[in-house]
Amino acid sequence: MQEILFTALVVTAIASALAAVLTLADRTVGNYGQVQMTINNDKQFTVEGGKTLLSTLIGQKVFIPSACGGKGSCGYCKVKVHDGGGPVLATEKPMLTEEELANDVRISCQIKVKQDIQIEIPEELFNVKEYDTTVERVEQLTKTIKLLRFNLGEETISFKPGQYVQLKAPAYEGNDEEVYRAYSVASSVNDPNHLELLIGYTGGIATTYVHQHLKEGDEVNINGPYGDFHYQEDDGGPIIMAAAGTGMAPILSILQYMADHEIQREAIFFFGARTMEDLFLSEKMKEFEEKLNFRYVPALSREESAEWTGIKGRVPVAIDQFIKDGAPYSAYLCGSPQMIDSIRESLKEHGVPEEKIYYDEF
Ligand SMILES: Cc1cc2nc3c(=O)[nH]c(=O)nc-3n(C[C@H](O)[C@H](O)[C@H](O)COP(=O)(O)OP(=O)(O)OC[C@H]3O[C@@H](n4cnc5c(N)ncnc54)[C@H](O)[C@@H]3O)c2cc1C
Ligand code: FES
Repeated sequence: MQEILFTALVVTAIASALAAVLTLADRTVGNYGQVQMTINNDKQFTVEGGKTLLSTLIGQKVFIPSACGGKGSCGYCKVKVHDGGGPVLATEKPMLTEEELANDVRISCQIKVKQDIQIEIPEELFNVKEYDTTVERVEQLTKTIKLLRFNLGEETISFKPGQYVQLKAPAYEGNDEEVYRAYSVASSVNDPNHLELLIGYTGGIATTYVHQHLKEGDEVNINGPYGDFHYQEDDGGPIIMAAAGTGMAPILSILQYMADHEIQREAIFFFGARTMEDLFLSEKMKEFEEKLNFRYVPALSREESAEWTGIKGRVPVAIDQFIKDGAPYSAYLCGSPQMIDSIRESLKEHGVPEEKIYYDEF
C-alpha cells in the first residue's frame, strides 16, 4: 500500500514539474520582445511581438476588415506578408486560393507577429478611421431589427453608398470577449456626422450587446469605411436591387444617394420577407417612389392573409414578373449567401451579365 502511495506521489511530482517547465517555456518562447513592422515599404512601426497580425495592426490604428472578429471564418482580413510571416497555417489554407498563396496573401487574424515583418495592404485602408460615437436614437423596426443612429460629434466620415463599418462590442455580463462586427451603413453620405445601421438580432455576441444592452446616450466605438460593394457611376442603365432583412441597409444608403443627387435612372427594389410583420420602412420606400424613377416590390414567402395583395413567393418569383429580358441592367444584391445565389441565377437567366451583378453576403 505504502509503495502505491509513494509511486502516486512521485508521478504527481513529476507531472507538476513538467507543467511548470512547460508554462515557463511558453512564457519565454511567447515573449518575442519588440519587432519592426514595415507596411507598404514606407511605414515602420516598432511593436510588441506575440499578438496576431490583425491585433497588432489595430494597436497601431491600422484597421483591416475583420467581419468575424478574428475567429478565422470570414476570410476578410487578408493582407500580403512578404517577409516574417512564418509558414502558412492549416487554419488559413481553406480561405486562400492557389493564386493568393503564390502572392504572399495571409489571414492576418491567424498569424502571430514573432519577428520583423513586412506587409502590404491596400492604400485606402489608411483612410479607415476610428470614431467615438454616441447612440442618438434606437428604433425597433421589427421584432428582431433595430435602427441605430450614431452621432459622430465633431468628426465626419467619408464613405461610398453601400459600404460598411465595423462596430466594437465591448465585454458585457455573460460575455468577456470584445469583438468587432461589420454593419452596412444605411444613412446618407451627405450626413457625415451621423451613421445609421440596421442591426438584426441573431443571439450572437454583438447583436446581443446591441439588442439587450445598448441604449440611447451610450458611447460606441466604430471604425470604417470598408468594402467594394457600393453604387457604381456606370453606363446609367436601369438598376435592380434585391435584399432581405437588414440587407436593406446598403440599399437605403444607395437610394438616398440617388435622391440627393437627383439620379433618375430607372430602379426597382425587390425586398424579400416572410410575412407583413417583417416589412419595415415602407413609408420611406414610398417617399423614394415619389422622388425617383423607382419602384418598391416586397415579396412575401409565407403570408397567408388575404389582406396581402402584393407578390407571394420569393424574390426570383417577383423578378420573373418585373424584369424585361435583355435590358442593360446592373444589379445590387444584399442578403444571405443562399438568397444571393438564387437571385444571381435568376438574373443570369434574364440576361443580366455576371460582371454587372454586385453583391454583399451576410
Ligand atoms: C460586409 C458585411 C456587412 C454586414 N452588414 C450587416 C448589417 O447591416 N446588419 C446586420 O444585422 N448584420 C450585418 N452583417 C452581419 C454582422 O457582421 C454579424 O455577423 C451579425 O450581426 C452577427 O454578429 P454576432 O456577434 O451577434 O454573432 P456571432 O457571435 O458572430 O455569431 C455568429 C452566428 O452564430 C449564431 N449564434 C451565435 N451564438 C448564438 C446563440 N447563443 N444562440 C443562437 N445563435 C447563435 C448566430 O446565428 C450568429 O449570427 C454584415 C456582415 C458583413 C460581412
Ligand atoms: S477576421 Fe475573419 S478570418 Fe480573420
